[in-house]
Amino acid sequence: MINLNVNGQTHAVDADPDTPLLYVLRDHLALNGAKFGCGLGQCGACTVMVDGKAVLSCITPISVLADRPVKTIEGLGTIDNPGPLQRAFIEEQACQCGYCIAGMILRAQALLERNPLPSDAEIRQHMMPNLCRCGTHARILRAVRRAAQIMQAAGPASMVVKP
Ligand code: FES
Ligand code: FES
Repeated sequence: MINLNVNGQTHAVDADPDTPLLYVLRDHLALNGAKFGCGLGQCGACTVMVDGKAVLSCITPISVLADRPVKTIEGLGTIDNPGPLQRAFIEEQACQCGYCIAGMILRAQALLERNPLPSDAEIRQHMMPNLCRCGTHARILRAVRRAAQIMQAAGPASMVVKP
């Protein structure tokens, strides 16, 4: 049994310690936002945050996560109360099929928590590990920029979204 802290809640998970975090999120905790893309750490569809950093959950075993805070897209807002990045992605119409988007948003969240006003070059550099098969990269970059503006206007408290 391993205790996982996900979106502020502690879950006692009965799974092999080598199980990838992605499988536990989806199969044990019914948190289906993070997606299985390649399963090899090469696409970013499974990106979540651990200790404030973007992490590829398909290659992260739960054995290294005991009591470290994990954040998923479900922890950033709800349909009725979307967080700043979720709002910005909607307003910029940054999703096509949507498969990559949860990972994109979590990677962007990690950037904006560390650097609230990144330059375009910093956004591009930071987002590089995450791929979008639909080619919406330009809109995704605009959405991250817009989210930074929303967070600036709303103040630091807006970074901590309470779903
Ligand atoms: S599914 Fe994890 S990086 Fe592709
Ligand atoms: S919106 Fe389809 S993969 Fe990115």
